[in-house]
This record gives sequence, structure tokens and C-alpha cells, in this order.
Amino acid sequence: MSGLVDLRSDTVTRPTPAMRQAMFDAPLGDDVFGDDPTVRALEARVADLLGKDAALFVPSGTMANQIALRAHGRAGDTVMAGRDAHIWRHETGALAALAGLQTLLLPTPMFTAADIRAHYTPDGSYNTPTTILAVENTHNMAGGLPWDPAALADVAATAKSLGMITHLDGARLWNAAVATNVSERQLAANFDSVSVCLSKGLGAPVGSVVAGSHDFIRRCHRFRKMYGGGMRQSGLLAAAGLYALDHHRTRLADDHAHAKLLAESLAGAKGLTVPPVATNIVMIDLSHLSADAAVAAARSAGVLLTPAGPHRIRAVTHLDVTREAVQRAANVLAALAA
Ligand SMILES: Cc1ncc(COP(=O)(O)O)c(C=O)c1O
Repeated sequence: MSGLVDLRSDTVTRPTPAMRQAMFDAPLGDDVFGDDPTVRALEARVADLLGKDAALFVPSGTMANQIALRAHGRAGDTVMAGRDAHIWRHETGALAALAGLQTLLLPTPMFTAADIRAHYTPDGSYNTPTTILAVENTHNMAGGLPWDPAALADVAATAKSLGMITHLDGARLWNAAVATNVSERQLAANFDSVSVCLSKGLGAPVGSVVAGSHDFIRRCHRFRKMYGGGMRQSGLLAAAGLYALDHHRTRLADDHAHAKLLAESLAGAKGLTVPPVATNIVMIDLSHLSADAAVAAARSAGVLLTPAGPHRIRAVTHLDVTREAVQRAANVLAALAA
């Protein structure tokens, strides 16, 4: 949508000319037969970046999370996660519908070792065991907040000490790494599995990767096929992911700076407040207007946003938004909230 400032999500980016060229040039094969060299290269690259044995390229972040949790859990087990976790709120009930897993949400998006212990149930003939801990970093509905690396390591270690399996929903782990200055490998260290997205801040058109041990990835492979995610000449898409890893990771700092600029430009505006911003997501709380009314009014003024609650709207910065566009959006938002 040219002329519009599209802040609905970091998924709205278009592949750059150089990324398209990398896709065009990629050597291809049939990935269901394990023949696509570009997919193999992407999987090896991501496994190495995350410090895991192996990885698997899948169509979406939802599929990455769902097959990971399916591969870890037994039907009837409980997955423990923070409030508003994407695996529960935004994955269409797939954990229950497809894996037979129940979800136990902790009272807050970010939580502590004490919260895990307080809500943990061991295995037993009368119990529903909490066998898996899933952690989201950055946390989407908490406004893109990254976990403090020490707190993240602590909750993962606590879960492991209770015998739980740990999964990291790292759809935006790249943003967390840039924001905390701690590598993706370190952030993923205490987790049995990790999912990462290439089609969000990194700007690839399609694709996510799930990583873990050889045995875990072998099981994920089967579930990817079961869930309809076996792809053929998908090296075309993997090439975009490889290009994004090489060229778009460090520039996420620009998106974070643009998000801060938006928040700072709105500070003091009437009729709204902005919770702390740490990465590329800005939540805006409106005192009077409903989120739907604000989104509609912003659209008429050329700014696209999403509702994130009855009086909360969300703006996300990305590869295709400039500093000038962010300033334009701030002016529109300040005017309509007042
Ligand atoms: C934290 C988190 N996990 C998973 C996903 C799912 O990704 P996809 O839209 O590719 O299924 C998202 C999407 O926004 C997300 O924010």
C-alpha cells in the first residue's frame, strides 16, 4: 500500500531487490526428498546460530511452535506459558486441537522461577503433569519486551530442574539479541527447542525454523509432513532467509530506534499513554477512543495500525518504514487521540 505508513506488523515488508536476486540465483531441489541444497544450508546456518544440533525449515512461526510442542508432548500433558502467549492466544487452539495438549497460563507475560514452582504439577496417577515450559522472547503482547537474559536463563534452568522440557518461541529472538546485546545462541542455551521467524523483522517473505537435538528434529520432520508443511523447491524461500540473516540482523537496531522515536514523539500527547518500548513494537493506550475507532481514523489519515485491546493499539516498525514515516505517524496519532 504505497503512500501509507504501514505499522500493522513487521510481517508486511516486501523482499528487497537484492533479496529477490538471491532467491532467483538459489540452487534448488525437492526438499521432501531432502534434495534442496539451499534449504540444507539455511537449516545448518540457523542450527549453528542457535547452538543446536539440527534445524528444520517450516512455512510459519505457528507451524514451528506447533510441531515443536507436538514433538515434545504427550496428549493430556500441560504446556506452561506466560500470559497472552502466542502459542495459546494466536495459534487458533492448535495445541488442544492438533496435539491434545492443554495450556496453563501464568498470571504475567514475564514470570519467575517462583511462579513456575507455584504452578508446576508433577506426573502422577491423579495429576495432569506440566511437562513443558514455553517462553516467548520477545513477548509480542507485552509490547515486544525482551526477557532479561539472566531471568530467562533462570526460568529455563528451573523448569529443567523440575524435569520439564523447555521451548523458546523466538519469533523475534533476533530483536531480543540486538536489544540485550546477548547472542541468540546464549539466549537459546537452556532451551531444548527454539523457533525463529525469518518473515518478521528480518524481512524475508515466508518462513520459520525450528531447532533442537537430532532426535527432536527427526520427530519434527514427521509432524511437519503431517501438518501439511512439506515443501518442494523451497530453496527459493530459504535463499531469502539466508540473505536476511546475512544482511538484515544488525539493522534491527534501526527499527528499535524508530520505535523509540515514535514513543518519544507521543510523550506528552493528550489522550494517550505509551508503555515502555524496548524493541520494534509500540503499544499505545487511548484514554477515550476505542481501538477500533482509532485504527479507522488513522487509516483515513494514511497510517495503518492494529487493535491490541479495547483501548490499546499497536504499531510495529520494520525494514520498510523510514524515520520520516514514523514522524508522520506520530503526528497523526497525536492529533486523533487529542
Ligand atoms: C511470538 C510469536 N510467535 C509466533 C508467531 C507466529 O508466526 P506466523 O505468523 O509466521 O505463524 C508470531 C506471529 O506474529 C509471534 O509474534
